[in-house]
Amino acid sequence: MTPPPDDIDRIMAVMDQAFAAEYGEAWNRKQVSDALLVGNCRYGLIAPDGSQDLESGDETAGFFLSRAIIDEEELLLFAISPKYRRKGLGHALLGRFILSAKQNGMRRVFLEMRDNNPAGFLYAAHGFRQIGLRPAYYRTPSGARIDAISQELALGN
Ligand SMILES: CC(C)(COP(=O)(O)OP(=O)(O)OC[C@H]1O[C@@H](n2cnc3c(N)ncnc32)[C@H](O)[C@@H]1OP(=O)(O)O)[C@@H](O)C(=O)NCCC(=O)NCCS
Repeated sequence: MTPPPDDIDRIMAVMDQAFAAEYGEAWNRKQVSDALLVGNCRYGLIAPDGSQDLESGDETAGFFLSRAIIDEEELLLFAISPKYRRKGLGHALLGRFILSAKQNGMRRVFLEMRDNNPAGFLYAAHGFRQIGLRPAYYRTPSGARIDAISQELALGN
């Protein structure tokens, strides 16, 4: 999937605000555009009003970026800009990702998140369950070590 440059701008505008620098989770523009050149990666956007078809100049509230391998899809990045949080946009975008993965024939989706990320409440609400743990996977500049939690959702395909 080769996205229009406008969409990479939109993804990066959210990326630059949404991820706390200390965890090193944000990707740079080259990482995003290289991933989307590969062919098995896709992305989705959400506008502040919840719509997904953004016109030129529209503000972007959030995005996801994922990679499919055969019949499994990994949610690599998922974010809503801070000023649009706790309005249900994360729910809407995650629901859209799950539905489209199912429609694309995926058997399951999975993701990895840092332990204690509030995103865990959102994933649990959509039925994700923990399948693994990588101890001390994230290291913050202050030296703290945080586990990575792997989660999956079976899609019934
Ligand atoms: C996680 C994230 C996408 C949620 O987006 P959002 O638009 O605020 O999500 P919603 O408004 O749909 O809320 C979904 C639920 O998630 C939970 N939640 C989200 N943020 C929370 C927080 N700060 N504290 C506690 N629960 C939280 C709540 O259960 C919430 O439901 P509620 O508002 O009905 O209580 C957003 O906080 C984000 O971009 N975080 C930074 C990037 C990130 O960590 N991404 C996930 C990587 S694995």
